[in-house]
Amino acid sequence: MEYRYSERMAKMNGAATREILKLLTRPEIISFAGGFPATQCLPQKEVQEIAQELLSEGRATAVLQYGTTEGFSELREELIKYVKTAGIENIGLENTLVISGGQQGIDLMSKIFLDKGDAVLVENPTYLTALQIFDSYQANIVGVDADENGLVIEDLEKKIKEHHPKFLYCVSTFSNPTGKTYTVENRKAIAEITAKYGVMVLEDDPYSKLRFEGKWVPSIKSFDKAGNVVYLTSFSKVLSPGLRMGVAIGDKEVIRKMTIGKQGVDVTTSNLSQLIVCEYLKRGYLFPNIEKNMPIYRERKNAMIRAIKEYMPEEFSFINAEGGLFIWGGFNAPIDTTKLAPEAIKYDVAYIQGQVFYPKADVVNMIRLNFSNAPVDKIDAGIHRLGDMFKKEIAKVK
Ligand SMILES: Cc1ncc(COP(=O)(O)O)c(C=O)c1O
Repeated sequence: MEYRYSERMAKMNGAATREILKLLTRPEIISFAGGFPATQCLPQKEVQEIAQELLSEGRATAVLQYGTTEGFSELREELIKYVKTAGIENIGLENTLVISGGQQGIDLMSKIFLDKGDAVLVENPTYLTALQIFDSYQANIVGVDADENGLVIEDLEKKIKEHHPKFLYCVSTFSNPTGKTYTVENRKAIAEITAKYGVMVLEDDPYSKLRFEGKWVPSIKSFDKAGNVVYLTSFSKVLSPGLRMGVAIGDKEVIRKMTIGKQGVDVTTSNLSQLIVCEYLKRGYLFPNIEKNMPIYRERKNAMIRAIKEYMPEEFSFINAEGGLFIWGGFNAPIDTTKLAPEAIKYDVAYIQGQVFYPKADVVNMIRLNFSNAPVDKIDAGIHRLGDMFKKEIAKVK
């Protein structure tokens, strides 16, 4: 059978990371490739307690029956309180859509705004799966330059004028892959300039609660006066990715369109997941659990930084993130990390090559390292192996 796939599948081969991820099942491999929360941080006991209660007390019907696409009102009320921690005030149920993980929000936003060839601006580099989603809608993805403050506003304005994008996608706090956080001034400027040109913003925020150091910053959404910012957050990194729970916050008209888009995808986010998260929030479990987990992440991040300083070649420089799950770094040497990713596997260690995070795939000297999912001794051993490999490779090109 010759399968006649849609045109939109042409760019969606996913080959870049597939071979690496396939190999990760080998137990001897130390993986810095994923973006998983630490298994020990998943609140098994609390989720079990809540799920049992939900199914045994008269709420089993609510769990097992169809639900509304918007999500349970009771949960959305809790989510309205929750997003106040991102500085988002004065919103109602009509501004709130429960989604099956943050990723669904990226997909729904694309579904309602993008026609073939429409421009989407992204930070250069940005979250790989967002790029894949935009590709699936056959968008023209345009990278915006970034510096230590966030997006370069002059470049943002230039790209807006040049490409008339439908929206800007950005991970404003502890970005994936860079771990960077935009300054407050940068956020205000992004909200202002996009509103001025009538460009939507999709602010994706799965990581801001995972802060080890530094000061809290409000979301871009909190500076939205025009109704042009849609804010996404997810419970994947702070509670459980398996529950597939997130929320989109936006202007009621946009949320309505996203709701219509969601109807055709999964009708509703799993009722069991919704009610578990609702109870989890109501019982006040979330923030104590995050606080309990923070020292584990902090320790792992510090272990990775220590190991990088000790074992990686001097040509390697990196960003020491104040939170999130990733260290992003690169070589001041002609090192192609895409070509070397399979070589690293021979050393029983895995990273993700930076190239996949760039819309034009035009940068090959960067790597993303995840520190959350390996214990400290493995982090040390894994970075040691990587350091050995990269030192050898650098010696070859010198
Ligand atoms: C920036 C960013 N957005 C969205 C997601 C998707 O997360 P989920 O759909 O599990 O909420 C991730 C996951 O790694 C991410 O890093």
